[in-house]
Amino acid sequence: LHASLTVDPAFRVADVSPRTFGSFVEHMGRCVYTGIYEPGHPYADEDGLRRDVLELVRELGVTTVRYPGGNFVSGFRWEDSVGPVAERPTRLDLAWHSTETNAFGLHEFHAWAAKAGVEPMMALNLGTRGVQEALDLLEYCNHPGGTAWSDQRIKNGAREPFGIGMWCLGNEMDGPWQTGHKTAAEYGRLAAETGRAMRMVDPGLELVACGSSSSSMPTFGAWEATVLEEAYDQVDYISCHAYYEEVDGDLGSFLASAVDMDRFVESVVATADHIRAKQRKKKRINLSFDEWNVWYQSRFEAQDKPDDWAVAPRVIEDEYNVADAVVLGGLLISLLRNSDRVTAACLAQLVNVIAPIRSEPGGPSWRQTTFHPFAQAARHARGTVLRVEPVAPVYDTARFGEVPVVDAVATHVAGGEGADELTVLAVNRHQGESVELALDLRAFPGYALVEHSVLSDPDVSATNTQQAPDRVRPRAVDTAPVVDGRLAVHLQPVSWNVIRLR
Ligand code: AHR
Repeated sequence: LHASLTVDPAFRVADVSPRTFGSFVEHMGRCVYTGIYEPGHPYADEDGLRRDVLELVRELGVTTVRYPGGNFVSGFRWEDSVGPVAERPTRLDLAWHSTETNAFGLHEFHAWAAKAGVEPMMALNLGTRGVQEALDLLEYCNHPGGTAWSDQRIKNGAREPFGIGMWCLGNEMDGPWQTGHKTAAEYGRLAAETGRAMRMVDPGLELVACGSSSSSMPTFGAWEATVLEEAYDQVDYISCHAYYEEVDGDLGSFLASAVDMDRFVESVVATADHIRAKQRKKKRINLSFDEWNVWYQSRFEAQDKPDDWAVAPRVIEDEYNVADAVVLGGLLISLLRNSDRVTAACLAQLVNVIAPIRSEPGGPSWRQTTFHPFAQAARHARGTVLRVEPVAPVYDTARFGEVPVVDAVATHVAGGEGADELTVLAVNRHQGESVELALDLRAFPGYALVEHSVLSDPDVSATNTQQAPDRVRPRAVDTAPVVDGRLAVHLQPVSWNVIRLR
């Protein structure tokens, strides 16, 4: 098969937002306990944080981390998670039918985030709680001192405020599974009043209102419209959540998951802009795609659940294969392509729970297949996003109709003096055929190929395991040089490709 695309600095979308490469740590399963935190592990540091996992988090290139949930947050009493560990109460976590010891809490997360070099994005409980508790938490985290809650933080060991700038006003409040689930009108009012009060404390906070927990929710579209009718002035973002999986062996549709993500973004942007027009606002609401990933949710629904009320049980520890990594790469391409409106995103989650990083209690940690596209994009997709509009053959899918076999996006850093960088991220979604992709780079005179890296495998179901942690990884391939501004690259079937030029 043959395809082509043109890269030109004139086709600018927006700057790459660093927050596109966010992730998510929830008190769920083994994400926190025996994930990022495991006192007594041979690699644990003085705070009980796993150094091996911290190293992988840094290598992954994660920028922002949403915490502490997720469904968990809708029953979370943050006060339980501060102060002397021995005095912290143990609670039932209704979201995951687990027992929460609160051994890891706000201060531990703050210490972890500093060591990981990530910006925290704090989620508030608007399920069982409201405006006052949100204000208390904000005062505890961000006020310098001299008030009850800020002095309590200082007493608990943190003289300097945590300085958290981005806050999620609840989690998936549209979902009937959510503790304290609300109608759009109820939630919209609560989000508006919580946001208004928080901004009385600090007008500079960036606030995220809950959008739909998936585009298949019956209230999708109407939910966003009602919430923004109420809260347009008080928020900066509306959230999107989407999880993808191969259903009934339909790999073709699964590989085209980015088509769904593009449509999702388009619909939420249209809804937000509709309210903008109705209310005659100048400000635009951006999208925080703060939960996205591959998740074999149907397997989870069908499975026997772990023991009721266990502490840190194994929950949704999906093992990802080559096809999953290619899909994840396609979703990253979609997020980048929509960088004019999607300015924050979180891969859900970070460790063990549907995660790019796996770790065993007392044992090793390793990179799942999906680690690689994320790490490569976080490292190399920098500067400005450029639209590339591939011209490619199509294939038929049951879910989306005809879909181009190649999807791609480019980014460009105009650094000058040898610091220029051009990166093309591309997937070949065809299951049987390679694609000869012709890149027209004449708008970048003098650029030469640095590397063409490929993640693919004759066995698309190959995975990385504790025994074979590097079975699937990107490999550099030989590619002919750029000649007269043209480059030809070979895209393997079901592959993720990073083409770097300078
Ligand atoms: O990431 C797993 C769960 O998925 C989160 O807790 C919830 O917000 C979503 O439904």
